[in-house]
Amino acid sequence: MDDQDGIHSPAERPSLRTRLAGVELESPLVLASGILGVTASLLARVARHGIGAVTTKSFSLEERPGHKSPTIVAFDHGFLNAVGLSNPGWEAATETIREYRTRSKVPIIASVFGKTVEEYPLIAEKAAAAGPDLLEVNVSCPNVAAEFGAPFEADPKVLATVTESVKRVAGKVPVAMKLSANFGAIGRMAKVCEDHGADAITAINTVGPGMLIDLNVKRPVLANKVGGVSGPCILPIAVRSVWEIRKAVKIPIIGTGGVGSAEDALQMILAGATAVGIGSALAFDGLESLPQINAGLERYLAGQGLSSLDAIRGAAHEP
Ligand SMILES: Cc1cc2nc3c(=O)[nH]c(=O)nc-3n(C[C@H](O)[C@H](O)[C@H](O)COP(=O)(O)O)c2cc1C
Repeated sequence: MDDQDGIHSPAERPSLRTRLAGVELESPLVLASGILGVTASLLARVARHGIGAVTTKSFSLEERPGHKSPTIVAFDHGFLNAVGLSNPGWEAATETIREYRTRSKVPIIASVFGKTVEEYPLIAEKAAAAGPDLLEVNVSCPNVAAEFGAPFEADPKVLATVTESVKRVAGKVPVAMKLSANFGAIGRMAKVCEDHGADAITAINTVGPGMLIDLNVKRPVLANKVGGVSGPCILPIAVRSVWEIRKAVKIPIIGTGGVGSAEDALQMILAGATAVGIGSALAFDGLESLPQINAGLERYLAGQGLSSLDAIRGAAHEP
């Protein structure tokens, strides 16, 4: 039987159930945006592997081709990508969400972005109408600066305007603002979002931009030259970011960046994350790693005699 501190009797199996901004998840694990989140069938396939929620690729009002190939390169410690927010536009995205609903009951998060501040509420309204469980607002992509200038998160006034305008049109759909660690003061940025109505924070987007150089042709590997860094090498930056955000705000955090194991996910939760985003690791390790991570989380809780992750969430902040 549970007591109020989440301690359980040894015979009981710990529960990974997680409440994220009012949305019930069977596991704290969330598919991060842009990785396997392009079609309904792919999203539904991920959903069959024990994930708590899936996030779509970020979509915009109009279709975007994205950057020229090569757009993504793997290196020893992660990925460098400059996909350039390619997506089929809002009509196809709406169809993806509707079709996904017919295939899976696992919650779906719709990720959106705008080319301008004014576009954010327009795309958010259309995305909310498609009926996702949560809206994620990407204001932090680091590889479209040549086209859009600095990401919208870089200016607190713009961040406030985008958050408020999306909240105004989102209706009952909770809104998560997705931030990066690329401008420092991520706690302050999260506070701006919370103060202007955000229901959650997703952190972090890819780090950088970064660059890798091909020794044979003696040129940058990516056609875009620079791209965002993801995967294991960004875990410490992501954990520190979640830690700072937790100190600054009360709203839930989807801690994302470099997670590939139960141990990584636990660090996010100890730093204060409610849910844990996972992206690049799925490309490295496959979808079979998801049930293994869930099993690792359960084993940890059982070993500590705890019935749920609530008992350890944010515990790393305790003196
Ligand atoms: C190929 C690729 C495409 C991505 N596309 C998006 C995107 O469309 N929108 C978004 O918000 N983040 C996007 N991201 C960032 C991820 O959602 C995530 O925040 C980042 O990769 C860190 O997590 P990870 O280390 O687990 O991959 C993308 C990342 C990669 C590697």
